[in-house]
Amino acid sequence: MSDTLTKLTYQTFQQSKNYFGLAHKLLSSRLKNIISATEQTQIQPIPNEVLLKAQQNLNNLLEVDWEDAERGVYPKSVLFDNPWEDFFRYYPMVWLDLPQTWERAQHKRYQEFTQDVDINGYPSYYVQNFHHQTNGYLSDLSANLYDLQVEILFGGSADPMRRRILAPLKEGLEVFSDVSPRQIRVLDVACGTGRTLKLIRAALPKASLFGTDLSPAYLRKANEFLSQIPGELPQLLQANAEELPYLDNYFHAVTSVFLFHELPAAARQQVIEQSYRVTKPGGTFIICDSVQMSDSPEMESLMESFHETFHEPYYKHYTTDNLVERLEKAGFENIDIRVHFMSKYFIARKPA
Ligand SMILES: C[S@@+](CC[C@H](N)C(=O)[O-])C[C@H]1O[C@@H](n2cnc3c(N)ncnc32)[C@H](O)[C@@H]1O
Repeated sequence: MSDTLTKLTYQTFQQSKNYFGLAHKLLSSRLKNIISATEQTQIQPIPNEVLLKAQQNLNNLLEVDWEDAERGVYPKSVLFDNPWEDFFRYYPMVWLDLPQTWERAQHKRYQEFTQDVDINGYPSYYVQNFHHQTNGYLSDLSANLYDLQVEILFGGSADPMRRRILAPLKEGLEVFSDVSPRQIRVLDVACGTGRTLKLIRAALPKASLFGTDLSPAYLRKANEFLSQIPGELPQLLQANAEELPYLDNYFHAVTSVFLFHELPAAARQQVIEQSYRVTKPGGTFIICDSVQMSDSPEMESLMESFHETFHEPYYKHYTTDNLVERLEKAGFENIDIRVHFMSKYFIARKPA
C-alpha cells in the first residue's frame, strides 16, 4: 500500500473510532433518560468553538502519530492495532453494566464493592468506583471492560495519546547507547491492562520491560494480553506505586500513563519520589496524564465537571497541581512539557 493510502486509511480508521465513541455516548445518555424516570440528564450542548478546537487538536495528534511512525519510532502496523476480539466479546457487557453504573452514580454510591471482592490492604483513596466502574479496579469484569470504556471516552485516541511517550522515551535512552538493547530496563508504573507496555515493546523490541499495578485483576488481564505478543514477556508485579519494589537506580527509564489524576496530592509526590529513586542517573521519567487548566482554557468547563461526571475524586486538584515543582522537589531536572489533544506529558531527567 502506498504511504498516502496507508495514511488515509489510518485517519479514516481513527475518525470512525471517534464517531463510534460519540454515537455510544449519545445513545447511552438517551437510554439513561428513558429508563431513569427520576433523574433526567440534560445533555449540555458543547459550544462550537470547543468542538472545533477539539477536532483540530485530535487532527494534530493523529498527524504527529503518523509522523513518529514514518520516522521509525514504532512500526506503522501499531497504528492499526485494535483489540477486536475483546471488542466483540465485551462490548455487549459494557451496555449490560450501564444500568447499575447509573444507579450508583445517581445515588452517589462511590465506594460500593460486591462481597466477593477483597478490598483489604489497599490505600483508602484507591477503594473507589473510579469512573463509576462496577467494583472499581478490583474485578475481572472491570479489567475486561476497561480498555473499551477508555476507547469510548477518548473516541479511540487513547493509544495515539499513549504513543506520545515513545519518542521522548527513545530519545532519553540515547544516553545509554553503550548499553546493549537487551540490558535496557524500562518500568511502566500503574500499567493497568498492559496497553502502554505493548506499545513500548513495539518501539523497543529487545528491552526488558517491567510493569506494576495495584490491581491483581488488571495485572491478570495484562499478563493474558501481553502473552500474545512476540518478544520477552514483561515482568509484572502487584505493588503500590508509592512503594516500588525495586532497587535504587535500577531502570534506564520509567513511564506512567493516566495514573496521576487518580492520586491524592501526597501520593502523587510519593510516586514521583519513588520513580526518582528507581531511575538510573541520566535516566528519564515520563508522565502522561490529562491536560491541566492552564493548557486548555477552552476545555475549562469540561474539566470542571469531569470529576463529578466520571467520579474522579482527585482530578480537580490534579488539574491545577504543579507537577514540575513536584518533579524538581524529588530531584529531577530539565523538565520538558508537551501537550497532545487531551493529554499532557512531563519528561524529566535524573541528573547523571
Ligand atoms: C486510569 S488507569 C491507567 C492504566 C494504564 N496505565 C493505561 O494507560 O490505561 C489507572 C491505573 O492505576 C492503577 N493505580 C491507581 N493507584 C495506584 C497506586 N497507588 N499504585 C499502583 N497502581 C495504581 C489502577 O489500578 C489502574 O490500573
